[in-house]
Amino acid sequence: MAPSKEDFQTVLSQARGLVREQLELTEKVILNVAKNAPAGICERLDSLFQRKGKRIRSTLLCLIAQSGSQKPDSLRVAQACAGIELLHLASLVHDDIIDGTDIRRGQKTAHKEWGTQVAVLIGDYVLSQSMQCVIDEESRDIPAVLSKAADKLIAGEILELDQSGNMRLSFEEYDRIIDGKTAALIAAAARIGAILAGFDKENIDKCAQMGSHFGIAFQIVDDLLDYGFGSKNLDKAKFTDLGNGLITLPLLYYFKDCSEPDRADMESLISRADQAGVPDQIIEKLNATGAFKMAKANAQNHLEKALEIAQGLPNSLFTEEIIQMFASMDNRGN
Ligand code: FPP
Ligand code: MG
Repeated sequence: MAPSKEDFQTVLSQARGLVREQLELTEKVILNVAKNAPAGICERLDSLFQRKGKRIRSTLLCLIAQSGSQKPDSLRVAQACAGIELLHLASLVHDDIIDGTDIRRGQKTAHKEWGTQVAVLIGDYVLSQSMQCVIDEESRDIPAVLSKAADKLIAGEILELDQSGNMRLSFEEYDRIIDGKTAALIAAAARIGAILAGFDKENIDKCAQMGSHFGIAFQIVDDLLDYGFGSKNLDKAKFTDLGNGLITLPLLYYFKDCSEPDRADMESLISRADQAGVPDQIIEKLNATGAFKMAKANAQNHLEKALEIAQGLPNSLFTEEIIQMFASMDNRGN
């Protein structure tokens, strides 16, 4: 039976409720990182940690960790969650410098607040601390998974930079970018959850695959939201991707089937995307050719694959919640 569709934010807060104990401990571990930091870093981390994210990665980790018959120690789970969340945060601090973004989580970005030099170092410190969160973990696989995820994030971001402005970006290159910059960390969170649940190697690999499909779908939906597609507020189109020269999935579908003159027209519009009225023309063309719908179908295809794996996990409240999370993600709005 197809799982029922609820609003993603509602499902996510239900999911967080199910693993509240582990998430509250995670917050303590994170706050201790700030408390134990030297002067000059401590106050800045305090301020950075106040801008809490949605904790999607750690919620998924906790749900998977609890989904088997063996319930892992909560502090062990929390240390791993803190590692994942701090790695995510470090990457966002650096990403905002790279993208030149002014606002994140409703507040000034780190580099706007403290300048680029300090923000780079704060990001470095948070990255180092993310690894220290799992340094004493009894499964030696967990620190390795986290550190490899950092490698993949960096490689994905470098690839994105190298391809910026490339109007001939291929589907394969796009897949590699989002696999690296987004899916790798969600896959790592799922893999760590499965290790903590005590699953065997085959099921650990399956969970990582499930996280990867979810992560890819998540990034495609994010790319659609950047155009305002699927957004609850139609005035929320940001066009930051185009502003940064990033060609994402809707444009790849448009370019795949269009004539050379239509390609030239679209390329010209993209190069003028900062002018009033031009984004609307781009949106109109993407709508008219079904490019947004094809991108959304691609995301749904990945979500179905994630769901298929989730449905094979041991039956539990936690597994049910994972299924609900995946089923509701494609219409998450802003
Ligand atoms: C956000 O994407 C960016 C990422 C998900 C990854 C950024 C990765 C790095 C900067 C390299 C790794 C760095 C460390 C410290 C390991 P986006 O720009 O599409 O989304 P946004 O709208 O949230 O900015
Ligand atoms: Mg960014």
